[in-house]
Amino acid sequence: MPLDIHAIRAEFPALAKRVNGEPLVYLDNAATTQVPQSVLNAMREFEEGGRANVHRSMHMLAERASVAYEDARRTVQKFLNAAYPHEIIFTKNCTEGVNLVARSLGETMQEGDTVLLSYLEHHSNIVPWLQLKERKGITVEWMEVDGAGHIDLEHYGKLLSEEKVKLVAITGQSNVLGARPPLEAMIRDAHAHGARVLVDGAQLAAHHQIDVRKLDCDFLTFSGHKVYGPTGIGVLYGKREILETMPPFLGGGMMIHEVNEDGFSAGDIPEKFEAGTPPITQAIGMGAAMEWLEQFPWENIEAHEQALLAQALQALTRLDGITIFGPVDPIERSACISFTLEGIHPHDFTETLGKRGICLRAGHHCAQPLHRKLGLTATVRLSLGIYNTREELHVAAWEQAIAALRGL
Ligand code: ALA
Repeated sequence: MPLDIHAIRAEFPALAKRVNGEPLVYLDNAATTQVPQSVLNAMREFEEGGRANVHRSMHMLAERASVAYEDARRTVQKFLNAAYPHEIIFTKNCTEGVNLVARSLGETMQEGDTVLLSYLEHHSNIVPWLQLKERKGITVEWMEVDGAGHIDLEHYGKLLSEEKVKLVAITGQSNVLGARPPLEAMIRDAHAHGARVLVDGAQLAAHHQIDVRKLDCDFLTFSGHKVYGPTGIGVLYGKREILETMPPFLGGGMMIHEVNEDGFSAGDIPEKFEAGTPPITQAIGMGAAMEWLEQFPWENIEAHEQALLAQALQALTRLDGITIFGPVDPIERSACISFTLEGIHPHDFTETLGKRGICLRAGHHCAQPLHRKLGLTATVRLSLGIYNTREELHVAAWEQAIAALRGL
């Protein structure tokens, strides 16, 4: 049965909003999604029912908080098909997950070791590795991509064959081009050369099923706010045997076995990586978001978003002076379309449409190396979510904005 998009939309209070009298058309889902009522309810019920810290006190509110927090961890475990709940570390966001690996696993790297990135990466999966380069003198290398966002797999194989790559850090889905690297094959190749793989799943998680055991990735990160959950919460999945050998990232309460005047011993995973009071309410919201999303078959989500993408591509292609970046075949693209319009600055275009309630993003989308590679400084980006409709993709307002900005 296809998704009932109108029933889905009714669950999102924000989507009923009007802007300057016009209905909200929210097409900035790659930046953050809206939140369904069930997620808001879960967080509110936890707070209103008497919140408490987790894994500390013995009273009944503390017990309730700990159970809810660990239930959320198990929900995420199931969402990713991870083997164990303690392979799920709650972080602040996807970026913090990458930083955790760069700071912790990175400590075991040395000069001569290579971290391999692709040109599709978001700054969150670039800068932590450049910081590691500054700290430890590692080498950062780049896999080539073509204009459609395909990774040059021959180049990838050649870089791996030099046997210096310790970690491949790769996006599951480009936040600019919507292209999806062939993760399974790339992970297999990396492992054959003794390299580990971290997948930035920020853009992938709301649009396609992730099975970390099938992928066999060593790490995978994503954020709650891009999967219809709250901000301030993210997930780092890591294989148990690797996480267990890694030193802690942040120090503080709950991440220890024992502390004395001269030192400490680190606790077990996942607490070892969850120093301080965690984002408890947000973790509960994250669990509720995973449960909300999982009620829909992935093939239905994919079919709906794919049909919207094809429609959007067709409509956009007709706009005067447009250049669309990324895969030409909609099948190869997921959830977003970035483009430029001759003679119009992306920011002016999105500001004009924003006044009519149409929300798009303009800029380099935190992917400057990719934009530079494509000879660009900025693009306009349309990004889809489960609740978008065909009606929202009628581009009459877009044509009017183009005409107005070109002074026609
Ligand atoms: N990574 C988010 C985006 O692409 C913020 O917009």
